[in-house]
Order: sequence, then C-alpha cells, then structure tokens
Amino acid sequence: MSTPLLKLEAVHTHIGAYHILHGVDLEVAHGELTVLLGRNGAGKTTTLRTIMGLWHPSAGRVLFDGEDLGALGTPEIAHRGISYVPENMGIFAELTVAENMLLAARGAKRPEDIDPKRLEWVFGLFPALKRFWQHPAGLLSGGQKQMVAVARAIIEPRKLLLIDEPSKGLAPAIIQNMVEAFRELKRTDTTILLVEQNFNFARQLGDRVAVMDDGRVVHAGTMAALAGDEGLQQQLLGLSLAAHQ
Ligand SMILES: Nc1ncnc2c1ncn2[C@@H]1O[C@H](COP(=O)(O)OP(=O)(O)OP(=O)(O)O)[C@@H](O)[C@H]1O
Ligand SMILES: [Mg+2]
Repeated sequence: MSTPLLKLEAVHTHIGAYHILHGVDLEVAHGELTVLLGRNGAGKTTTLRTIMGLWHPSAGRVLFDGEDLGALGTPEIAHRGISYVPENMGIFAELTVAENMLLAARGAKRPEDIDPKRLEWVFGLFPALKRFWQHPAGLLSGGQKQMVAVARAIIEPRKLLLIDEPSKGLAPAIIQNMVEAFRELKRTDTTILLVEQNFNFARQLGDRVAVMDDGRVVHAGTMAALAGDEGLQQQLLGLSLAAHQ
C-alpha cells in the first residue's frame, strides 16, 4: 500500500470506565474503499467515533494525511475534510430534504445557493432526493433517509467518508441501489471507510477489508482474497458466502 490517507496506530479508547478499543491498527489507502467488518459489539462504531473525535483515544495515534488528530475536536476534524454518516443517520426529520442538504452545504444560505452541478451529480446518484426535495425527511422510507444521510456527507467534496452500516434495515433491492451509488462515488476517487455487516453488500464494494473483534483488528487484507476464501470467511465472520446468496 502507498502512504495511507488514514492510519490508526495501537488506538485505545475508553468510554467512561469501559475499555472499548484495545489497540486498533488500521490503514485506509487513498482512493480506496475499505470495509470494516465484525460482529455486534466488536468496536466498529467506536472506531469511527474515535476517528471523528467524538471519543478521544486514551493511547495510540489517529493519523490523517500524516497529522495526528488525537487532540482535535470534531469540528476541526470535519474541517480537515472528513465526513461521518452515523449509524442512526443524523438527519432532521422535521426539515425538508432540501433543508437537510442545506445544513451540510458550506456557505449556502438557501437551497438555491447549493452548487447546482454538485447537486445534479448527487441527484444522479440518488434520484429519490430530487423527487422528495420539498418533503419532510421524516416522511421518507428507511432507504431514502439513508440516501439523504449519504448525500449530505458528499454534497461538499471530502477527502474521507466514514459511513456506518448504510444497508441496515434496507430491503435487498434498495441495497442494490445503494451499491450502484457507492460504485459511482468510488469512480470519483473518494476514500471511504465503510462499516458493514452485510457481507454480500460489502464484497461488491470493498477494495480492502479489516475485520474487528473485541476492540481489535484481527484481520486485514484485500476484499478479493476474503471473498475468494470461504474458509477464511467462516473463521473470521462465522459465515459462508453460499448462505448469503
Ligand atoms: N456509550 C457507551 N457506553 C458504554 N459502552 C459502550 C458505549 N458505546 C458502545 N459501548 C460498548 O462498546 C462496545 C463496542 O460497541 P460499538 O458500538 O463500537 O460496536 P459495533 O461493532 O459498532 O457493534 P454493532 O455492529 O452492534 O453496531 C460494545 O460492547 C458496547 O456495548
Ligand atoms: Mg455499530
């Protein structure tokens, strides 16, 4: 791998009295999509929150473009070009889709101020947004809300996207739409760290994969190698791909 855009070195995170991350080592390469897999409670969300400065590492380093983010606050980290789509999506149900997007668009005071070329590109990825532009976001389906959340994260060009389980609770057809949108996003060379438990979704998008367990990364490699090795899947994820097709 060339110099990674993001590198976690032996990161420990405590939440109150609880020791959650036990020395996470992780590299995310420029322009690639890295999937973070692992069972419930493995520490995936805590890892994203630690990168974003929502928790601070108690030991170890989070390096972004060579800079240690450890002491920075979340707004400063966001300012470096990192955006985060949390598990619960963080959209405002009472606001329209347009207003939700406005909140994420730097310098825009009204929806009309959002860069029209960028907006057309986002509409191309997620056509439902155009259709429901003036609707309260709370009225959208789970999949459409997830699309608003991802659209908010990309309305401004970013260096790194952190996305937590975008496929959660979505029907297979909607997941496939999401795969297509992410494929398109990958063509723009955006670097993405994607937390995902749906291996079938993950393997269609991932260049690399890291598997967490008990607050550590227990496996890192290419997605192609994991997707082609059922024994390794069974060992790391307790699944066989055949059961997921
Ligand atoms: N605010 C908190 N206070 C105490 N413990 C927490 C808190 N948040 C998470 N944990 C604990 O940290 C561990 C890792 O949680 P985390 O949310 O990072 O897991 P995850 O891999 O994202 O799981 P899931 O797949 O269920 O989303 C879990 O044991 C969880 O109970
Ligand atoms: Mg989680």
